[in-house]
Amino acid sequence: MITTTDLTKVYRTRDREVTALDGVNLHVQEGEVHGVIGQSGAGKSSLIRCVNLLETPTSGTVTVDGRDLTALAGRGARPSAALRQARSRIGMVFQHFNLLSSRTVRGNVELPLEILGLGRAERRRKALDLLDLVGLAPHARAHPAQLSGGQKQRVGIARALAGDPKVLLSDEATSALDPETTASVLALLRDLNRQLGLTVLLITHEMDVVKTVCDSASLMRDGRIAESGTVRELLATPGSALAAALFPVGGPPPEDGDRTVVDVTFHGAATGRPLISQLARTYHVDVSILGAAMDTVGGAQIGRMRIELPGRFSDNVVPIGFLREQGLAVEVVTGAAPADAQASAAPTKEATR
Ligand SMILES: Nc1ncnc2c1ncn2[C@@H]1O[C@H](COP(=O)(O)OP(=O)(O)O)[C@@H](O)[C@H]1O
Ligand SMILES: [Mg+2]
Repeated sequence: MITTTDLTKVYRTRDREVTALDGVNLHVQEGEVHGVIGQSGAGKSSLIRCVNLLETPTSGTVTVDGRDLTALAGRGARPSAALRQARSRIGMVFQHFNLLSSRTVRGNVELPLEILGLGRAERRRKALDLLDLVGLAPHARAHPAQLSGGQKQRVGIARALAGDPKVLLSDEATSALDPETTASVLALLRDLNRQLGLTVLLITHEMDVVKTVCDSASLMRDGRIAESGTVRELLATPGSALAAALFPVGGPPPEDGDRTVVDVTFHGAATGRPLISQLARTYHVDVSILGAAMDTVGGAQIGRMRIELPGRFSDNVVPIGFLREQGLAVEVVTGAAPADAQASAAPTKEATR
């Protein structure tokens, strides 16, 4: 639904250049909620603003719903009619709501409908429908100043839906809200995603947002996408920084020779089976649990656990193999030998190519 290819954005000011996007290849499937997470300055806002061409990319292409927006943009300073039309099918929600204080709630939602050229009665009807959808119909005649932050953001969402978009972009929409309000706004985005089949691309710097609503996520670092995938794929990827941040399982393990520390990721049926106790009984090993995190992601139970086994990695090959056979992702954190094991495995891989 959303694809960017080798997208770059360089800001040029009088005395310097800033490369905010450095070859971004993003893929968001139709109907999914995709989160882009990263530290401040990573390029998240630049990315989302390039996706609807609010910002003109320096190079690369942006395709939304099968249309190459970069091609529609043309070379002129003003957006072409075709681009304006395509853009009206992309809703955008902002961190600071960007509501007009002089207009009522309904008036704010009507604004994009005026721009689309709808008649007065139709605008009114549509705005009230949208306010109903976001649970704000009783406040249609209020002014933004009379609303709470969460209510203001609901107005922002209703306004973003005015053009019947297929895609909703959200730049830190919940960052100015308290945790409870954040949860209710995220639940609303999730509902809209399901009810309307809306594809949502949301930018956040909060891991909890990704955990709560995202089907898939990308990690941005220095203008690039460092990791990307469904939450489940990320959890199954050894060394995924995003998986580790979503499911932190404790600090660095003690660096001491005679034990092996491994991170185990459970999902699906494995979460309900007593695998650690089977491991202990079958192989007569004393397993210590150093840290664990369990959560529900997209309705599925996922868990990560950092466990310690006595002995070096070479002493634990069989129990670790047992866990892998049970379908768990096992990543060896320490135990002296994993580097050797990988080194000896690598040439075999090469040889089979
Ligand atoms: N309009 C602009 N002019 C110059 N530099 C900018 C502009 N917008 C963003 N930047 C710079 O681009 C980089 C990425 O910014 P941004 O996309 O806002 O990141 P994020 O949203 O992840 O915090 C930062 O170094 C920022 O200072
Ligand atoms: Mg930003």
